[in-house]
Parts: sequence; C-alpha cells; structure tokens
Amino acid sequence: MPVALITGASRGLGRAAARALADRGWSLVADARREDDLTDAVRGFPDVVAIAGDVTSPGHRAHLVAAIRQLGRLDVLVNNASSLGPSPLPPLRSYELGELRRVYETNVLAPLALIQLLAGPLEAAGGAIINVSSDAAVEAYPGWGGYGSSKAALDQLTAVLAAEEGALRCYAFDPGDMRTDMHQHAFPGEDISDRPEPESVVPALLRLIDERPPSGRYRAADRAVQSVEKVQS
Ligand SMILES: NC(=O)c1ccc[n+]([C@@H]2O[C@H](COP(=O)([O-])OP(=O)(O)OC[C@H]3O[C@@H](n4cnc5c(N)ncnc54)[C@H](OP(=O)(O)O)[C@@H]3O)[C@@H](O)[C@H]2O)c1
Repeated sequence: MPVALITGASRGLGRAAARALADRGWSLVADARREDDLTDAVRGFPDVVAIAGDVTSPGHRAHLVAAIRQLGRLDVLVNNASSLGPSPLPPLRSYELGELRRVYETNVLAPLALIQLLAGPLEAAGGAIINVSSDAAVEAYPGWGGYGSSKAALDQLTAVLAAEEGALRCYAFDPGDMRTDMHQHAFPGEDISDRPEPESVVPALLRLIDERPPSGRYRAADRAVQSVEKVQS
C-alpha cells in the first residue's frame, strides 16, 4: 500500500487531501499541533499514524521519520502545514522580525528539513514531494511580504531540488484561494464564503500524484503553468 506523509492534516487542505488518500486505501502519517483536532480529523481512516506536534521542532520531525521507518516506505511527502504570520497582515516596514523568523521556520526550513530526512525512502519508492505554495509567492500584494517571501523561497527550493534530484518528482503546488481558517485570518472580519472549499482543490493534487508530470510549479487552477524546463530557460 502506498504511504504519504501530510503535514497540517487537521484542517483545510491538509485534512481534505488526507481524507482523499485514505479513501483510496493509502497509509498515512499525519500531523498538526493540536492533538484533539488531529484525532478528530483522522477518525475512521483505515491506516493512519497521527502524531501531534510542530513541524518546526526537530524532535517532532524525528517522530514523523520514525513512523515512516516503521511503515517501511514513503511515496509522497506533502509539506502543507504553514504559517500566515500575524493577522492583520503587517506591512514589511513594521514586520516584527521574530514573527517573520517563525514564518520562515514553518514555511521554508521545516519542509526542507523533512525533505532532507526523507529523501532516501522517497527515492527508493520513486516518490514525489509536494510543497504547498501560494500565489503570494509570485504576486506582490501589500501585507503579504512575510508569508509571500517564505512561499517564494519554498518555490525556489522546490525548483533547485528538482534540478538536483533526478530520481524524485518535486512539485510546488499553488492551490488558489480556499475557504479555510488561514484564509479567514488573512481577511479578518471579511465574509470569505465565496471562496471554494479546500476539497475542490484535491482533484488537482491527486492528478499530480497519479500522473507524475515533470517536476515544477503547478497551479490547481490550470494544473500546469511552469514546468522545470520553463523555470530553467
Ligand atoms: N487557504 C488559502 O486560501 C490558501 C491559499 C494559498 C495557499 N494556501 C496554502 O495551503 C496550505 C494549507 O492551508 P489551509 O488554508 O488549509 O490552512 P489551515 O486551514 O489554517 O490549516 C493549517 C493546518 O496546518 C496545521 N499547522 C499549522 N502550523 C503547523 C505547524 N507549525 N506544525 C504542524 N502543523 C501545523 C494546522 O493545525 P494546528 O494549527 O493544530 O497546528 C492545520 O492542520 C498552506 O500551505 C497554505 O499556505 C492556502
């Protein structure tokens, strides 16, 4: 049975993706910081190891790796857990640097740390890395400088990894706007009920897993915007 590790699986896109893979019979390792939410999210999954913890913690990451070792393989790593930073979103001029450091720890360093720890089993399975990105990585929206620059860094890590790791598929996946807690925090007090549910994005993510197109940056909206060849040209 294929195995996926999905970070941030208790809510939003991570939960929707975890449910879809569990429905297909995949074995899962899933995390989130709040244990009760995580337990609720994965209840009823046939084969899941749910480990509460913070992806920025080396000790927690070691527990995730130990769970993968126990299962004996890893086909897909979905680096989905992410920090928006302060809400309301502050302009860069006044962005508190400790807050920015935490955003980068969560959105850039933790995904790379997991990739470093799990590249071996991923390679052995001919596996794929899916780093969940954002349009804020490529668009300059006021207030989005902290989060957006972290996702831009994640995109570039993904592109360079793709160039370095020929045996792996490395994807930056931009899901587009979704009606989630993170999105609500980005737009405090606003009605976001017109945004699509995260479940609507899952088919595009599953297509990446099923079809394994060339490594690159993919938007859920149109599935294939920049292949690695285009990034490198
Ligand atoms: N929503 C959008 O409109 C949108 C648009 C573009 C891109 N994205 C990206 O899509 C992905 C999913 O976002 P979402 O909107 O679904 O977010 P969400 O609803 O806020 O869910 C985030 C998930 O990650 C977990 N998490 C957060 N920080 C964590 C940490 N340090 N360690 C472990 N788990 C952590 C959360 O649980 P705990 O809080 O309990 O840890 C939760 O399970 C993110 O990468 C986000 O940047 C979202």
